Amino acid sequence: MSAAANTRDGGMAELSALDRPVVMVGLMGAGKSSIGRRLARCLGVNFVDSDVEIEDAAGCSINEIFEKYGETYFRDGERRVMQRLLKAAPGVLAAGGGAFINNQTRELIRSHAISVWLRADIDTLCDRTKGRKHRPLLNTGEARATLQSLIDKRYPVYAKADLTVDTANDGPNVTCLRVLKALEKYTGAPLAASEPQ
Ligand code: S3P
Repeated sequence: MSAAANTRDGGMAELSALDRPVVMVGLMGAGKSSIGRRLARCLGVNFVDSDVEIEDAAGCSINEIFEKYGETYFRDGERRVMQRLLKAAPGVLAAGGGAFINNQTRELIRSHAISVWLRADIDTLCDRTKGRKHRPLLNTGEARATLQSLIDKRYPVYAKADLTVDTANDGPNVTCLRVLKALEKYTGAPLAASEPQ
């Protein structure tokens, strides 16, 4: 990341101590996009959602990519998109839930960014994903069991992130502030351009 970045209103914000992208990782429903967007606002930098970028690049939805080409194809595309996004140096990047689990994608993230695991419990994840149909892995009629099995498999891997921040029903601004404080402690510098809102 360069010394300055475009803000949402087209201006430039000094990034001072933040010299790498921040990548939000964690399970579906953890709040990577919602907290990531707030965090970017608060840091005065760009926000990018990798799932949206993958859909734009493919010209179809993630459901359609899974249906037509399968998960392995999706993971390969996800790795390529993450590689591009990490080079283009957006301020805050929300990764899809499986990105950090793929060895190659995780290495890319670990070498180019500060990774933040948003850790949530099963009830929070179920609540936040309920009734949403855009996630192929949860469209099985067994969403809770699937999420529990993903917790079992993936949490030891997410634990390799640079930072771990717990999220539950505290409200997004509280979680955002928690992430900000963890980042400031990690980088050893004040980073916020404004309060979380
Ligand atoms: C996935 C998570 C999704 C999306 C795809 C697969 C996963 O992203 O990339 O459906 O494997 O956990 P979100 O975590 O943003 O929902």
